[in-house]
Amino acid sequence: MKTETIEVQGTGFNLQDYEEARRTFSWSDVEKVFSWYETGKVNMAYEAIDRHAEGERKDKVALYYSDAQRDEQYTFQEMKAKSNQAANILHKLGIKKGDRVFIFMPRSPELYFSLLGAIKLGAIVGPLFEAFMEGAVRDRLENSEAVAVVTTPELLPRVPSKDLPALKHILLVGDNLDLEQLNKEHPTVQLHDYHKEMADASTAFDIVWVDKEDPLILHYTSGSTGKPKGVLHVHYAMLQHYQTGKWVLDLKEDDVYWCTADPGWVTGTSYGIFAPWLNGATNVIRGGRFSPEDWYYTIEKYKVTVWYSAPTAFRMLMGAGEAVAERYDLSSLRHILSVGEPLNPEVIRWGLQVYKLRIHDTWWMTETGGMLICNYPCMEMRPGSMGKPFPGIEADIIDDEGNPLPPYQMGNLAIKVGWPSMMRKIWKNEEKYNEYFRLKGWYISGDSAYKDEDGYFWFQGRVDDVIMTAGERVGPFEVESKLVEHPAVAEAGVIGKPDPVRGEIIKAFISLRAGYEPSEELKEEIRQFVKTGLAAHAAPREIEFKDKLPKTRSGKIMRRVLKAWELGLPTGDLSTMED
Ligand code: WTA
Repeated sequence: MKTETIEVQGTGFNLQDYEEARRTFSWSDVEKVFSWYETGKVNMAYEAIDRHAEGERKDKVALYYSDAQRDEQYTFQEMKAKSNQAANILHKLGIKKGDRVFIFMPRSPELYFSLLGAIKLGAIVGPLFEAFMEGAVRDRLENSEAVAVVTTPELLPRVPSKDLPALKHILLVGDNLDLEQLNKEHPTVQLHDYHKEMADASTAFDIVWVDKEDPLILHYTSGSTGKPKGVLHVHYAMLQHYQTGKWVLDLKEDDVYWCTADPGWVTGTSYGIFAPWLNGATNVIRGGRFSPEDWYYTIEKYKVTVWYSAPTAFRMLMGAGEAVAERYDLSSLRHILSVGEPLNPEVIRWGLQVYKLRIHDTWWMTETGGMLICNYPCMEMRPGSMGKPFPGIEADIIDDEGNPLPPYQMGNLAIKVGWPSMMRKIWKNEEKYNEYFRLKGWYISGDSAYKDEDGYFWFQGRVDDVIMTAGERVGPFEVESKLVEHPAVAEAGVIGKPDPVRGEIIKAFISLRAGYEPSEELKEEIRQFVKTGLAAHAAPREIEFKDKLPKTRSGKIMRRVLKAWELGLPTGDLSTMED
């Protein structure tokens, strides 16, 4: 079978020979990077910030932060001082090791100071995306029994403090606060003025050393059923963050790195905080909303060299057109990566044309804490494939009994248990946790995929999304990928719609690019496009145009919401949906 390949671009990568690394790599060697290997004193925040602040990188910029109002930068030394101050505030409130401290606010330097400060204290941090409404906030704070929340006056009304008996403190990041008045509305907790407290706090702090298996961070994520689950990671995850940062992000001393994800989602912490700073890289954080102009401006302004984003963003940039990209100087870019959903080959081709660079797909999940299957700068790429397992990771395609399947057979994407950033718990839900490990020795991802004869993995869909139509198995991603190749299609979501004759038929929800109007002719043209470009059985029998498709913040089109719309059923938990 002839596969489209894209050659390696350039030389001098941190990882130079993938096959060699697979043979020789061991996680225990990575432990030696960290001082705790000898001292036994572990803390993620020490390795990410203080270590550099005490060494040659002390005056290097750790964080560039900007949004429409602010434009700031902080060296590693300054990051150490600020996070120490935040740790001192939390310490004064009586927060201790193991307590859950949630951070519910838009991106800002204060978010990063507080998060690192809480980690320095040995607390478990829980980042919450700013768009969560009251119900979503309640679910998470209730389940985790959080004792403190760091938030802003704007978001405070969404913290239902009276319903949360464990919650004792709210730290407010805002100007001119009337704490007395606000305390009347939140009589069961103590409110504190972050800026005032910071002004009085010492910049020195005795970091709390923990065990490498002590909990670090709790990320809530939604499954196909039930309430969001709290996925717990430990400090030891730093091995994975560090090493994937080195070999997949390919971070080097002079890099300026930008991960576009919000820390409310795992990409925004594992790769927006830990991986870059464990590697001592300069990290760019851009607040505010997405716009093609603003994002290109950010790359130009900071001379970003390594850029980690998501397929939705790349598709929107593609939708905005090449002319917008041409107005900015993007020549600093040397490495681009993607995560969160399938990266369409069409987008990769477009990236090659416009950025003159390959976009490297990476696969992982909230539960896996770090990258597992990736495209490496040193490796030939096959567009549409998420790449090969990271050295030290064993991945395979297995059937429902745990038997490995031969190449090209679709099955459960599974990982041999035991990588450093693997979740250690689902908070207060052992049963859910055990479901992932129901086949002995394997972590079952819930994704379906196949591998080719050269060991590249190809994503097919969530196990529950695969469509059976007239006896044919169709992965919705394949159809969606084809659909977005059509010039009129901006985004597409494909579901199986129950059908008395065929079992299911394929139905596509489509949003159009600017300049195109919905019409019956266009539907037919798109249908023919898939029929001729992919397969007759894969062509959507039904097409519905929508202004916008329901998506998670990490950019996944929520097929389950499309399906619920279609069937007139309740849409379930929408707390991870964008907007
Ligand atoms: C999907 C985001 C295709 C997959 C880090 C997985 C992907 C889920 C890819 C986890 C990829 C992630 N190609 N699908 N490269 N990366 N996914 O927990 O279905 O928000 O199970 O973690 O996203 O999403 P989560």
